[in-house]
Amino acid sequence: MEAQTSLTHITSFNPPRRTLMGPGPSDVPQRILDAMARPTIGHLDPAFVDMMEQLKTLLRYAFQTENALTFPVSGPGSVGMETCFVNLIEPGDKVIVCRNGVFGGRMVENVQRSGGIAVVVDDAWGTAVDPNKLEDALKANPDAKIVAFVHAETSTGAQSDAATLAKIAQRYGCLSIADTVTSLGGTPLKVDEWGLDAVYSGSQKCLSCTPGLSPVTFSERAVERVKTRKTKVQSWFMDLNLVLGYWGGAGKRTYHHTAPINPLYGLHEALVILKEEGLENAWARHRSNHDALKAGVEAMGLQFLVKAEDRLPQLNTITLPPGVDDAAARARLLNDHNLEIGAGLGDLAGKVWRIGLMGYSSRPENVAFCLRALKDVLP
Ligand SMILES: Cc1ncc(COP(=O)(O)O)c(C=O)c1O
Repeated sequence: MEAQTSLTHITSFNPPRRTLMGPGPSDVPQRILDAMARPTIGHLDPAFVDMMEQLKTLLRYAFQTENALTFPVSGPGSVGMETCFVNLIEPGDKVIVCRNGVFGGRMVENVQRSGGIAVVVDDAWGTAVDPNKLEDALKANPDAKIVAFVHAETSTGAQSDAATLAKIAQRYGCLSIADTVTSLGGTPLKVDEWGLDAVYSGSQKCLSCTPGLSPVTFSERAVERVKTRKTKVQSWFMDLNLVLGYWGGAGKRTYHHTAPINPLYGLHEALVILKEEGLENAWARHRSNHDALKAGVEAMGLQFLVKAEDRLPQLNTITLPPGVDDAAARARLLNDHNLEIGAGLGDLAGKVWRIGLMGYSSRPENVAFCLRALKDVLP
């Protein structure tokens, strides 16, 4: 049986200071932690309500959208994901899911658990979604209602062409659901220009906030679909028809759930930092730090899993050289260097490392630090 921690020895928790360069969470700047330490006020306090309106405006900027229904779901990226699926799918609806990694697989689960029929379009892990395969699937399934795909597949480091996939979905009369958990704030994402319908993200990646919040945005087409459902959304908590009464902003706000007040201060601060830097500058910073890391790891003879044109600058997947003990080397990075990088997931476990350069972690000093640490632990 597992040894239990004795209650009498437990005191306050003081986490070690690490450098977070894995697939998320990324480092949280002190400015955001300070914002989260400000006084907790009531979630219907007029001052808090003003802050919520600012948050929506800031998120519209980050997502590059005018969508009225743009807000942070109270829950991690997985809750944002589920919010999109449970609201848009009615029992029996056919959904084309493009799967090129772990998170596409979770989309399939979401479709099935929402009572939908998933038609899966598979692409190899480490490659982008193939738009031609999506088009073939739509031709073969003219009754499909939704197309779902992951913009930035964190399990592999591959980026898909969300603009093209969304346009194809539209051409076949489908709504699109896009996972932008790892792309928001780190790589170009233009919700309105690309015509994406339901988009979810996470607070802990390129926004560098603490985990636990999921920014989402819904087009008018998507909102219309939710409002004209024949069946009730099976989740009370995630039903947008109800959440709208709290986050909607028009008229009186009604209690839905108690918002995570201090984490929302943190997200607000993270988005103010993004606005101050400028979205294009943030994208360029992620790109230039990726270029520096790439030069360093290639000079060490290491190779990337994903081909250059499909590579995510903020999530670098490196193939492990032969003879390296994956777990032991990562343990040394953590214990000797206080550096966290990510292991491979699913089929890639033991074969790759994932080095995140996301948000506040995407800095030249982190690139140099990570390269020094890798040189120390690799043969
Ligand atoms: C692409 C992608 N989708 C969804 C999620 C789920 O987010 P969370 O872990 O915040 O629930 C993650 C988390 O890593 C992710 O990378």
